[in-house]
Amino acid sequence: MAADMVIKNAAQLVTCSGFGPRCGSRRMNDLGLIEDGTVVITGGVIEAAGVTAEVLDGRDLSGYRIIDAAGKAVLPGFVDSHTHFVFGGYREEEFSWRLAGRSYMEILERGGGILSTVEATRKAGKEELLDSGMRRLDSMLAFGVTTVEGKSGYGLDLETEIKQLQVMAELDRRHPVDVVSTFLGAHAVAPAYRGRGDEYIDLVVRKVMPQVADADLAEFCDVFCEQNVFSISQSRRLLKAAAQMGFKLTLHADEMVALGGAELAAELGAVSADHLLQASDAGIAAMAAKGVVATLLPGTAFSLREPYARGRQMIDAGCAVALATDFNPGSCFSESVPLVMALACLYMDLTPEEAVCAMTINGAAAVGRADRIGSIDPGKAGDLVILEFPSYKFIPYHVGVNCVEKVIKNGELVFDKSNSRRGKGC
Ligand code: NIG
Ligand code: FE
Repeated sequence: MAADMVIKNAAQLVTCSGFGPRCGSRRMNDLGLIEDGTVVITGGVIEAAGVTAEVLDGRDLSGYRIIDAAGKAVLPGFVDSHTHFVFGGYREEEFSWRLAGRSYMEILERGGGILSTVEATRKAGKEELLDSGMRRLDSMLAFGVTTVEGKSGYGLDLETEIKQLQVMAELDRRHPVDVVSTFLGAHAVAPAYRGRGDEYIDLVVRKVMPQVADADLAEFCDVFCEQNVFSISQSRRLLKAAAQMGFKLTLHADEMVALGGAELAAELGAVSADHLLQASDAGIAAMAAKGVVATLLPGTAFSLREPYARGRQMIDAGCAVALATDFNPGSCFSESVPLVMALACLYMDLTPEEAVCAMTINGAAAVGRADRIGSIDPGKAGDLVILEFPSYKFIPYHVGVNCVEKVIKNGELVFDKSNSRRGKGC
């Protein structure tokens, strides 16, 4: 899948130009806007991007598919850098339990939450997981996502962790959306190891992780570093072993309790630390100093009615902030990119420009691919989103509503809203 395409006359080309994370307020607010812009994609890769008259001057476009984007904004494809999208079963009852006052962590401690999805995922066949995975990727693609990170962690045993990762590898092959896989064997203590967290970490490090590494099934290793799940020292032990086996590091850090996960991420040189609702000032400063991407998931704070991460302070402290959906069957059953961007602006005080940067180039940095995706620069993959509106500002402003009209992946049109309009095909 690699095609030749020209997207011309865009009211606004939002380039987010760059090949690494954008840190701090000045850089996150600079979207590299071009008015009346054109992008040329050759063999699936961006060849040129700039002002229409200059880019098209003297260029032979025979053989190129041409899309006229007059009156529309064109952005880099979105990178959803934190999800748990391969799972069996659903947990709609838990939503009501939380409304009735039970907390997310209380439900997990009673054997529900993540552990109930573990039970359903162990039972699910590969075909079932592939089928639901394809449908979920279709939905993400319609929101403009061209690369998604997905985690294991609903197996907590060798067989099911491998099954989940194999499903993600197959989905990466079958679906236009690229899947970056993360091994999250330490998402919770497996039921058979209840009360024996250290022994469970031994199992993950000695038995499961080496097989995941040998089969090259994941790029990243993650851990749920949280009170009553995995401590700082257990997380450190697991992540150090993962680094030695060649995994890049990321962690669920300081989500409910300020344990020091942000500081641990900085100490270990993790690519990103995620959630961070309770991250300390020292943790924020350490992430900024070490270049750890702060991946914020406001849809989860919203769904769990928890306080939002301090996104404004993180950016002002010099962090590179990324935004992601955290799509999963429990704490945030939503793949809505525009909802996440609206929440980031309304409750974490990000500007719309920072929210766009956080969903594109900084999302790409959070999955270690800022050199290949996340911006409209020559040499990068031809992954683009065309909005129904002339400005990126409509994304958070049109709260929670999808204003993506077309999605292009490696120079090929892979989603077009006009094909799903009323009356079409009836
Ligand atoms: O990122 N916090 C831990 N893990 C996920 C939720 C997983 C689940 O509830 O199934 C999260 O929120
Ligand atoms: Fe998560």
